[in-house]
Amino acid sequence: MDARALKIEAARAALEHVTDGMRLGIGTGSTAEEFVRLLAEKVAAGMKIIGVPTSERTAALCRELGVQLSTLDETPELDLTIDGADEVDAQLTLVKGGGGALLREKIVAAASKKMIVIADQSKMVETLGKFPLPIEVNKFGLKATELAIAAVAEKLGLSGPLTLRMTNGAPFVTDGGHFIVDASFGRIPDPRALSNGLHAVPGVVEHGLFLGLAQAAVIAGADGIRTVRA
Ligand code: A5P
Repeated sequence: MDARALKIEAARAALEHVTDGMRLGIGTGSTAEEFVRLLAEKVAAGMKIIGVPTSERTAALCRELGVQLSTLDETPELDLTIDGADEVDAQLTLVKGGGGALLREKIVAAASKKMIVIADQSKMVETLGKFPLPIEVNKFGLKATELAIAAVAEKLGLSGPLTLRMTNGAPFVTDGGHFIVDASFGRIPDPRALSNGLHAVPGVVEHGLFLGLAQAAVIAGADGIRTVRA
């Protein structure tokens, strides 16, 4: 089975957790998009849900496919969020933000009673950090913020390049109007300590470590689906 087929299988399995009337946080990325396509089929068949998208990109796809949307301001409490991830460990700590939507993804997940991650087996890791950690930063004082991030990392024994994310020759700008710095620290043995350190940097808007937010991960591999629970 190729990677796309695995993403579809994970999305299909997670869809079983969606029931009529739910207020649903809808993630961002290629796996989440497969989920939206399957969800749209259910909606077309009569299922009623209200979706709160985690990005403009997801919102556009939902609109195109006829999935009814609300905003988090109109619907501030959600029953369930389903979203992809860049890395997942056995404790269900995640790295997210490869698609640049980490801030809204985290706000939506935190507003949900439950978060289920959907991913193919390649996203499961023993220790987080092979995937560069996306850090959303304010545009103001970028260099100073990068120096502060490096200092936080150094205190924790971490180091590695910080790369400003670019697109079409210009810095990538998030839906919230910020930049993303991708931090290639390598293994992150203590995600909580790094999270706390990054949150203490004023220019850091949010980072892609998701701690204690996901209750389950539906993982699709060559030998089928398994659900990892926190
Ligand atoms: C979007 O910002 C990310 O957090 C995605 O959820 C993550 O990058 C997974 O994306 P894929 O499903 O495309 O791998």
